[in-house]
Amino acid sequence: MDAGKLLAGNRIIPVVVIDDVDTAVPLAECLLEAGLKTIEVTLRTPAAVEAIDRIAREVPGMIVGAGSIRNSEQVDEVLRAGAMFGVAPGATGRLLTAVDRAGLPFVPGAATASEMMRNLQRGYRLQKFFPAEQSGGIDYLKAVGSPLPEVRFVPTGGIDADLARDYLALPNVFAVGGSWVAPRKLVESRDFDAIGKLAAAAAV
Ligand code: 3PG
Repeated sequence: MDAGKLLAGNRIIPVVVIDDVDTAVPLAECLLEAGLKTIEVTLRTPAAVEAIDRIAREVPGMIVGAGSIRNSEQVDEVLRAGAMFGVAPGATGRLLTAVDRAGLPFVPGAATASEMMRNLQRGYRLQKFFPAEQSGGIDYLKAVGSPLPEVRFVPTGGIDADLARDYLALPNVFAVGGSWVAPRKLVESRDFDAIGKLAAAAAV
């Protein structure tokens, strides 16, 4: 399935770093309860793959994906764990070939017009704009909207609740991703009350 179809209507994608696998299920439940139905677990900790596996098995209704995918081994690994979609900070030909072969709904990253065009040539109309704030932010997305009208973006990187609203008002923004919804420190300290409040405020 196409990532755009899978993620349609979910305009905020929490990007999470999970250090302790036991926080995965309560975190996903907390986000779901607040109205956020997607979670991107970044492959940046040893616990990430097991966290994806637990969420996929134990939190029905949550669309769980893997983030920070960089190579084909990780594609196979997260698919086995039950990841429903994948996200990458960029894209390489080899990675996109692995993703296509595996049939994983995928959002490749891009930060320049050439990268966006290369992803588009491979059939990816939905792309992560990363790192969004550092790469020119809202003005940049407005500027590429004219020459690349087919591309829809998930800007991620440096975005907070206020900026998310501004990004979401752009016609070429499909959804916004970010860690502000469930910051690593709050996940680590299992402060699900605070995360629930941030998530509820983000849910649109
Ligand atoms: C990502 O992996 O998409 C980013 O690290 C998230 O960026 P943020 O932490 O600035 O929201």
